[in-house]
Amino acid sequence: MRVVLLGPPGAGKGTQAVRLVGRYNIPHISTGDIFRKNLKEKTELGLKAKEYMDKGLLVPDALVVDIVKARLVEDDCAKGFLLDGFPRTVDQADALETELDKLGIKLDAVINIEVEDDILIGRLTGRLVCRKCGATYHATFNKPKVDAVCDLCGGEIYTRDDDKEETVKNRLLVYKDQTQPLIDYYTKKDMLKTINGETDTDTVFVKICKALE
Ligand code: AP5
Ligand code: MG
Ligand code: ZN
Repeated sequence: MRVVLLGPPGAGKGTQAVRLVGRYNIPHISTGDIFRKNLKEKTELGLKAKEYMDKGLLVPDALVVDIVKARLVEDDCAKGFLLDGFPRTVDQADALETELDKLGIKLDAVINIEVEDDILIGRLTGRLVCRKCGATYHATFNKPKVDAVCDLCGGEIYTRDDDKEETVKNRLLVYKDQTQPLIDYYTKKDMLKTINGETDTDTVFVKICKALE
């Protein structure tokens, strides 16, 4: 199974990705997670990416594409992969297609998770994330059982730097401007499956699985 999860910030890509990779036994490739991991390790890439992420801007394609290309040829991707947050521009989508052509493989589907802006803002400004395993919670909708402790791994829970309301609003604008064109792009290739992401997480998961059948 080779799948791309598309959708605005807060649509639930990460939340659904964790479940999908468990079900289909494929690696979860989140470019946002890769940048955050690099930042934690204070690598040059992480520090460079932070300049853009903190403003709610996209990291330049040149910094993103090679990382994904390198990741896709690792052994664990042989049986499939789930891309979360990549591609995010038409140039990234073209680069992905070129790379997959080279490898002689094709995407099975692009899942587009749709959610209204007001709901997205509420989700992001209340989001909590586990520092250790990346599991996602919400201060109101999906609290961890014990305050500030991850249910899954016991890790510490924190708020992402880019989840401040002002940055969130900018991320939504950037999404509309640079990423939304991919809806047309993948519709034309007959790959797009759109899912309403406004229902509860279990229902969204069932709908995505059905779309992938
Ligand atoms: P990234 O980390 O990918 O962030 P994003 O796309 O902005 O998306 P989010 O992770 O914020 O949202 P999500 O859809 O994963 O939602 P989640 O499941 O967490 O990217 C961050 C930054 O890195 C970018 O801004 C950019 O700078 C850079 N970057 C990354 N990739 C790049 C690329 N390819 N090119 C250039 N730059 C790149 O859910 C959100 C909240 O809602 C959680 O609290 C969750 O519990 C809750 N929730 C989820 N589903 C539901 C539901 N059904 N009902 C109620 N609550 C729900
Ligand atoms: Mg995410
Ligand atoms: Zn955890």
